[in-house]
Amino acid sequence: MLRSRPRIVVSRHLPDDVEARALRLFDSHLNTGDQRLDSATLHQLAGTADGLLVCLTDRLDAEAIKALPPGVRIVATFSVGYDHIDLGAARARGLVVTNTPDVLTEATADIALLLMLGAARRATEAQTMLREGRWGAWTPTGLLGTHLGGKRLGLVGLGRIGRAFAHRARACGMEIHYHGPRRQPATLEEGAVFHPSLESLLGISDVLSLHAPSTPETRNLIDAAALAALPAGAILVNTARGDLVDDEAVIAALTSGRLRAAGLDVFRGEPQLHPAYVSLPNAFLLPHMGSATEETRAAMGHRCLDNLEAFFAGREPADRIA
Ligand code: GLV
Repeated sequence: MLRSRPRIVVSRHLPDDVEARALRLFDSHLNTGDQRLDSATLHQLAGTADGLLVCLTDRLDAEAIKALPPGVRIVATFSVGYDHIDLGAARARGLVVTNTPDVLTEATADIALLLMLGAARRATEAQTMLREGRWGAWTPTGLLGTHLGGKRLGLVGLGRIGRAFAHRARACGMEIHYHGPRRQPATLEEGAVFHPSLESLLGISDVLSLHAPSTPETRNLIDAAALAALPAGAILVNTARGDLVDDEAVIAALTSGRLRAAGLDVFRGEPQLHPAYVSLPNAFLLPHMGSATEETRAAMGHRCLDNLEAFFAGREPADRIA
């Protein structure tokens, strides 16, 4: 049967204008009810599809990729991170994979700033006190946080989001340091101090912020030993992926006060999170909303469609990662 338009399955509800464009461009199966699709349902829907538009809630491991119907030739993920997709298995099967870099950089850096400020200025305790009607009176010594100006921000990773967060932190008067797989050119460093080892970065980081992908090498990167290497009373910020930190170690450090506070937007096993986090007054927590602005989510959707459109027109998608 000759098909006039490629058929795609969109795994989650997307902003209205993105869905409208998906319907114009392709024979699109939308998920307007936004039910999370289990892998059996996704595979069933993929049966006659040429491409999938998935999110980080859809796990495409080696087995799932092998089981994809043969007609599926491209997967566009509505995320910059791609740890939910086995790229090796995708390449082995000749499956093209694309992501959404650039468009979520600024929104995610804003959330990193919010987490750093929320942790430094005791936002969880303040919000709880206010909402529970326990605000007795203003006092000169109540809810004192710590000043960020003059402190050192250690970035694990000076990629797009790390750099955008550094711009914001400089405006707070912070000194920027980083560690990554390689030293960046001076134009990207913008004065940030490179540390050739993570240990060296940890030793000086008053605030440590994670901007590295989730890989077997970065899993549990921030464990008990790493936390012990931070200055006493440091702050941890994570907008990257939850499995970069050892939750038990972070919770122990927050409980003992070794870590003054943490600002966390991502969690191992999310939407479940280690239950101890929610009872810690010095943990400022958000439910993975780094890119959650109307503008950014629309831009991410259009970026997926741009990649799909290029692929089906026989061009190289701009954001091809496999
Ligand atoms: C969000 O976490 C993303 O990877 O886009």
